[in-house]
Amino acid sequence: MAETVLDYEAEAAHYDRTRGGVPRAGAAAEAVLRLVPPGARTLLDLACGTGLVTERLTRPGLRVYGADAAQAMLRVADGRVPGRVVRSDARRLPLPDASVDAVGAVWLLHLVPFAAEIVAEAARVLRPGGVLVATVDKDAAHDVGSDIDEILRPHRSAAAASDRADLITGHAAAHGLEPAPGTHFTGYGQGATPRDTVRKLRVGHFASWFPGDPATAETLTAALAVLPDQDRPRAEPRYRLACFVRRG
Ligand SMILES: C[S@@+](CC[C@H](N)C(=O)[O-])C[C@H]1O[C@@H](n2cnc3c(N)ncnc32)[C@H](O)[C@@H]1O
Repeated sequence: MAETVLDYEAEAAHYDRTRGGVPRAGAAAEAVLRLVPPGARTLLDLACGTGLVTERLTRPGLRVYGADAAQAMLRVADGRVPGRVVRSDARRLPLPDASVDAVGAVWLLHLVPFAAEIVAEAARVLRPGGVLVATVDKDAAHDVGSDIDEILRPHRSAAAASDRADLITGHAAAHGLEPAPGTHFTGYGQGATPRDTVRKLRVGHFASWFPGDPATAETLTAALAVLPDQDRPRAEPRYRLACFVRRG
């Protein structure tokens, strides 16, 4: 099921090591929990990946479950939260209507061209008063004003990100989800280096910014390759978590 640029079946083996590990996952989980109402008893972690965030979504009285489309990611997740993960497309969850108190989606909506369908499905499974907590504007968070960003910014800002906050708010409103205060978390270990940014360009990571235009990737690669300190991480991003409450 490869509908995203990255093949998460292949990513599973090195995902935790390359995505900020426990510090990033801990910061994400803590931020999600800040937005989950105190009385919530069930939380579905959509696109739970390897379960590194999922296993940290712990609070007395709260039961967490995970769903993800990639089998290899889920194998790792099942070792962390045994028996509580399911293989599922986030657009078609194997859950009845109005059956969970909270849905989390960390680093999902920026990946897919069908964010609207995912928001609709989250709204369907949420009980009245339940919350959807999702990262939005993920790529924009990587614009920390560095020399790398000066090169990438014109392309990043011209691209229509599928997780743009105003778009997600519109999808949410269409399905009875009202905006509530959100929060942020630090992307520990996610500061970009020039060398790694070139690697990402080569595997098509930014391809949606300039579809069908390989020459742009080559131009950016050349500019990034001459930046100083090729392996020095630039500032870490602060990711935005939006929150929406299901109307009764
Ligand atoms: C960047 S990872 C995020 C994993 C986890 N939330 C975290 O923060 O570590 C994105 C995940 O989304 C999953 N994914 C992508 N498209 C999906 C879809 N349509 N339905 C369910 N999961 C999907 C991928 O398999 C991958 O595990």
